Amino acid sequence: MGRFHVVVTAPIHREALDLLRNEADVYVFEEPPVEDELIESVRDADAILVTLNVERVSRRVIESASKLRVIARHGVGYDNVDVDAATERGVWVTITPVLHETVADMAFAHILCLARNVCRASQHVKSRLWRIRDPFLFVGMDVWGKVIGIIGLGRIGSAIAKRSKGFSMKILYYDIVRKPQLEIEFEAEYRPLNDLLRESDFVVISCPLTEYTRGMIGEDELKLMKPTAILVNIARGPIVDHDALVKALREGWIAGAGLDVFWQEPLPLEDPLLDLDNVILTPHIASNTSECRRRMALTAVEDILRVLHGEPPRYPVNDITKKR
Ligand code: DGY
Repeated sequence: MGRFHVVVTAPIHREALDLLRNEADVYVFEEPPVEDELIESVRDADAILVTLNVERVSRRVIESASKLRVIARHGVGYDNVDVDAATERGVWVTITPVLHETVADMAFAHILCLARNVCRASQHVKSRLWRIRDPFLFVGMDVWGKVIGIIGLGRIGSAIAKRSKGFSMKILYYDIVRKPQLEIEFEAEYRPLNDLLRESDFVVISCPLTEYTRGMIGEDELKLMKPTAILVNIARGPIVDHDALVKALREGWIAGAGLDVFWQEPLPLEDPLLDLDNVILTPHIASNTSECRRRMALTAVEDILRVLHGEPPRYPVNDITKKR
């Protein structure tokens, strides 16, 4: 058997790359490829490792890779992969469910920064503007003891709930399925979406982007939230209607938003969000710690090697065995 051929759509952790290179010829894109570049590169590929969420692994890409056996997503969101097309052609699609704790840390970073004005206050001191001891300088709001509403109580949502307990928060959640076991574990209460939005001080979106969740938070939903509430999105940008959110932030329907994900990434330079004071914007880095990046890359590579050696992957999102 000759060496395998693997295409990696953007650089990954060195250790995982070395592991892959022991057994395969690996082509790594320095920047995420557009569709035609990807098509050109995968004609001979046994596997594609999809590093980011901006590379679209479309039906055209999948159908142009006749030897393809596995598409490994370096992450847990796979809205950029045409899973149906992959399944039809007997190609596994895998994810790396090893990032939930790290992403939950980031959700809390946004919550705390916004509630306690951390970024603005730091900028104030660094700009040498701190001249007097004003007892109400950057007065914030408590996080502990407040109500958190988690949209999507999967792995990431559960890790957020675990942290919320440590902050003595009341935990509400909305999901397409009730999670009775988690309700007990986190003392979390289920609410229909609209009730969760009405009752929460912090709303965190941690559900996947699907046909059902695309645009799920629009003008009507934002108007239900408290004017003191904060919205945090560490899932996918298109779950929230962009224009409605800008309006809500400008007109004070909500107090602020912490966004790690956007409708377009990188965020266009003319986006109105960039000029708002009541937002914190981070460039899709919620899983970006050196430990987590290593775990994600090794998990993706291990599943690629399993499939190439004829074993089923550990973390598939499709089932190709029924097809055979
Ligand atoms: C994910 O897990 O999909 C994150 O967005 C990282 O790409």
